[in-house]
Amino acid sequence: MSIVEKFMTMEYGPAPEDPREALAWLDRHGRRFGHFINGASQAPAARTYFDTMDPSTGEKLATVAQGSAADVDSAVKAARGALPTWQSLTNHARARYLYALARQVQKHSRWLAVLETLDNGKPIRESRDIDIPLVARHFYHHAGWAQLLEQEFPGYAACGVVGQIIPWNFPLLMLAWKIAPALATGNTVVLKPAEFTPLTALAFAHICQEVGIPAGVVNIVTGDGSTGEALVKHPDVDKIAFTGSTEVGRAIRKATAQSHKKLSLELGGKSPFIIFEDADLDSAVEGLVDGIWFNQGQVCCAGSRLLMQESIADKLIGKTQDRMNTLRIGPPLDKAIDIGAIVARVQLERIQRLVDQGVAEGATCWQPSIPVPSRGLYFPPTLLSNVHPSSVVAQQEIFGPVLAAMTFRTPREAVELANNTVYGLAACVWSESINVSLHVAAQLKAGVVWVNCTNLFDAACGFGGYRESGFGREGGREGLLEYLEPSWFKNAPPVHPTPVAMDQPPEESTDFTAPPIDRTVKLYIGGKQARPDSGYSIEVRGADGRLLGEAALGNRKDIRNAVEAARKAESWGKTTAHNRAQVLFYIAENLSQRREEIAGRLSAVVGKKQALAEVSLGLERIFSYAAWADKFDGAVHNPPFRNVALAMKEPIGIVGVVCPADAPLLGFISLVMPGISAGNTVVAIPSEKYPLIAADLYQVFETSDLPDGVVNIVTGRASELMKTLAEHDDVDAIWCFTDEASAAAAKTFSVGNLKQVFTNEGRAIDWFDVKQGEGRWFLDHAVQVKNIWVPYGE
Ligand code: NAI
Repeated sequence: MSIVEKFMTMEYGPAPEDPREALAWLDRHGRRFGHFINGASQAPAARTYFDTMDPSTGEKLATVAQGSAADVDSAVKAARGALPTWQSLTNHARARYLYALARQVQKHSRWLAVLETLDNGKPIRESRDIDIPLVARHFYHHAGWAQLLEQEFPGYAACGVVGQIIPWNFPLLMLAWKIAPALATGNTVVLKPAEFTPLTALAFAHICQEVGIPAGVVNIVTGDGSTGEALVKHPDVDKIAFTGSTEVGRAIRKATAQSHKKLSLELGGKSPFIIFEDADLDSAVEGLVDGIWFNQGQVCCAGSRLLMQESIADKLIGKTQDRMNTLRIGPPLDKAIDIGAIVARVQLERIQRLVDQGVAEGATCWQPSIPVPSRGLYFPPTLLSNVHPSSVVAQQEIFGPVLAAMTFRTPREAVELANNTVYGLAACVWSESINVSLHVAAQLKAGVVWVNCTNLFDAACGFGGYRESGFGREGGREGLLEYLEPSWFKNAPPVHPTPVAMDQPPEESTDFTAPPIDRTVKLYIGGKQARPDSGYSIEVRGADGRLLGEAALGNRKDIRNAVEAARKAESWGKTTAHNRAQVLFYIAENLSQRREEIAGRLSAVVGKKQALAEVSLGLERIFSYAAWADKFDGAVHNPPFRNVALAMKEPIGIVGVVCPADAPLLGFISLVMPGISAGNTVVAIPSEKYPLIAADLYQVFETSDLPDGVVNIVTGRASELMKTLAEHDDVDAIWCFTDEASAAAAKTFSVGNLKQVFTNEGRAIDWFDVKQGEGRWFLDHAVQVKNIWVPYGE
């Protein structure tokens, strides 16, 4: 092509990045890598290796160790062994290590970017300008958290040995998201990179050696899903952090249910990209290009569902197609390439299969006529229009450069369509009206909402999902909490088989109102006392065997009714925090008026002393949560872009609460009040020991302006009721604070919709100790953070 022709077409010429440095590094290792365990390379016990390829050429890059259970064990032992050394360092010393990692990543940034592109197939422009700078930023930010740990998280301690499993779409970035917060909080780690992309993790191991990270603090075990599984099942791991498919996330939830491993899951998505008619369409199209064709669409938060307001649909489709015609697909090391290679053949085939299925279901498939390399694994940018909201391409994560387009008429319809998915990772809203965009953003069930922008990430802003996109956050303050727990918690004794208070016979309670005999306590559903579906009740006896009354025997149907009532009451989460505070104060006031009477009845079960303490501390606790209602609020982050990120603490939704047996009133208050203070609605199963407390509670609620359905109480056999609650797909979280077996069962049964589970792990919590029974630990579990990114400036 002549210069004149070049000038006329304005075509880019090839601008290949030189891979020699990265290849030379592979050569120096003989293109063969062991695991990185205890600070050194270690050959796999079984001597098995696998190849990792360059997906843009199909050429083999290196051979990598296939980790076995023995390798995982050796890495976990190294991590356990390193824990005392790592934890004996000052926060400042740990901060310096993290800072050194950040610096070293920056120094090696070009090498790391090239290696990432070679192994993954992503355009060098992205690995160079996005992935690696964000990796460095993550270590910088967390160097800061390490420094501030004691001031910012008093009373919290590291989980211990953390197992981390990451996917192949952002290999080094996902490693940084996992390792930086874990190290900053004093944990040691065993990380398993994805089998398609192990190389930058091994390069990171090299960087750890350069920086002098103490041996065993960071361990990298390469391998496939079976290696991941061995890590998940290893008994000496305290926490698992996983990013990957929802299917594997579910398997991990199941596999860890019988253990005390803390779990965070960052899973799939089918994120809506909503464009209103008043949006700046050209900017929106640029956003869309980034939203779905960034990293070949292999992005968990990809804007893969385009929702267009009907009035602009044709125009927008036209503009999008014009833009798609200018996308360049080809060798990812070329700096002028927009779309690189798909990571592996199995993924390429999966994408094609899903597109075919979409077309078979009626979608229209459009692909630009741009040259696509014949060698290597490439898939052209693809637009599917006329997609039915229930079709497979609108519901399933494709994880490729495929956009499914649909239309809507009103903002309300947009929200409905957007939320019509089991996922809830991210969303984009494009509108020039700040009112419309923020109003819509608030209603979207997603952990991140980008207003008039897309795919912005920062270490200071938490990232993570709602619903089946997982739980837990990465980045920011909330991300650190995933690697911390209250320092007293791990060593708390197991729940006493018979509640402590019952060991001694209750003192005489002559100065109290005698408990009425034959009291029959009903269920409390939707603000009404309800007879149980079973028509049966259970006898409740005092510590001395006396019959105190009868409690309704609730069953599955009652739980379902209660969940329905809780769903109907969800506007509670949208009332002002001031309003919630007022109601909680009023509950306390009404409890106070009946304190004698309630303590009197309770004393027959727990003794006079405890009964009095439960009522007076309970009162205080309700006051605390009334106080927090309008104070436990979000934050405004200032990421290094011209944006603010509004970190909103949103209620999780419906929380099923299984109350402890031993403190019937205080236990109920300690769990239900933080939930409703944060705007959740609750279905509570009261103390199995003394379910009659339900009547006292609902009489208080009935007189306290608590809207119907915000708190529902179902008495009965706690473990049966809990199972129904945990399996119920419309319950969003389960809090189970009874014994160890119930904690494990709650985790197992909740696997269906991957609800968030918060338990005492069968350990005794001293509800009478404010440090254990009250505060941020509970509130943090009662909310999920949604970050709404809003640009400012021209
Ligand atoms: P995957 O979920 O199987 O792999 C992610 C990681 O988990 C890898 O390191 C893998 O070795 C490991 N793993 C696999 N099975 C495991 C097990 N039973 N226990 C522990 N670890 C295990 O994802 P895959 O197969 O690579 O991709 C399949 C689909 O998953 C993609 O098409 C995409 O839809 C989705 N995906 C979503 C990601 C996200 O970030 N949300 C990332 C990767 C995949």
